[in-house]
Amino acid sequence: MNYISLHNISKRFNDGAGGQRIVLDGLCLDVEKGDHIAITGVSGTGKTTLLRILGTLTAPDEGTYLLDGVSVDYADEPQLRRLRNGCIGFVFQDCPLLPWQTAWQNILLPTGAAGGHPSSEVVQWAEELVRMMDIGHVKGQMPQSLSGGERCRVGLCRALVMRPSLLLADEPTGQLDAAHAHEVAELLTMVNKRLGMTIVTVTHSDRLAQTAGRVYKLDHGKLIMDLS
Ligand SMILES: Nc1ncnc2c1ncn2[C@@H]1O[C@H](COP(=O)(O)OP(=O)(O)OP(=O)(O)O)[C@@H](O)[C@H]1O
Ligand SMILES: [Mg+2]
Repeated sequence: MNYISLHNISKRFNDGAGGQRIVLDGLCLDVEKGDHIAITGVSGTGKTTLLRILGTLTAPDEGTYLLDGVSVDYADEPQLRRLRNGCIGFVFQDCPLLPWQTAWQNILLPTGAAGGHPSSEVVQWAEELVRMMDIGHVKGQMPQSLSGGERCRVGLCRALVMRPSLLLADEPTGQLDAAHAHEVAELLTMVNKRLGMTIVTVTHSDRLAQTAGRVYKLDHGKLIMDLS
């Protein structure tokens, strides 16, 4: 059974000039548990929109989304909260962090959302993520004092801290130099192989795309398998 099954997904937005822009147009996607797929495509084609639909943050206008056999109902807030807190980790393209919390507190935020204090096992895992992402020296800093790349690496640790079964990452290496981009690619490979995490990465980086098992290009509202 597919872990993710998108069928005939369509999404339109008002274009600000009285018309509508069709961003996703009858898009279909099947992903098995433990797959790592990458999505590429030129700016404005709808990659973030697609990832937000997968993350239950944006509702499509048409189509169905089955996640682990459960039909996602975008009007059912309790169900959406359960999915977001229970099995989805999301790395946002612009790396937003809570400005009044330190980098370390930001990383541990999802553990609070799940209720109670983090267990020593969770803290240990968070420490491992911080080490792998090379941000140990900025743990105590506030987000506004972090570099763009550091903010993104904090965002990636936060998305992974609860070991989600599905990681959705929107250009996780967009603001990173080659060495740190390589570390992110290694981390994604590690959680994919070691934890069996299913990963959907949006990326402009050929190198990151190469670490994925399959690469798709989003073009004219549909996904095309990239065989190059
Ligand atoms: N909330 C919204 N309201 C109106 N238009 C939107 C909204 N969100 C996205 N769009 C439009 O939908 C299109 C796709 O946007 P999206 O952010 O998904 O593209 P993208 O492929 O992620 O681009 P990039 O590579 O630049 O991040 C764009 O034309 C954008 O202007
Ligand atoms: Mg985007």
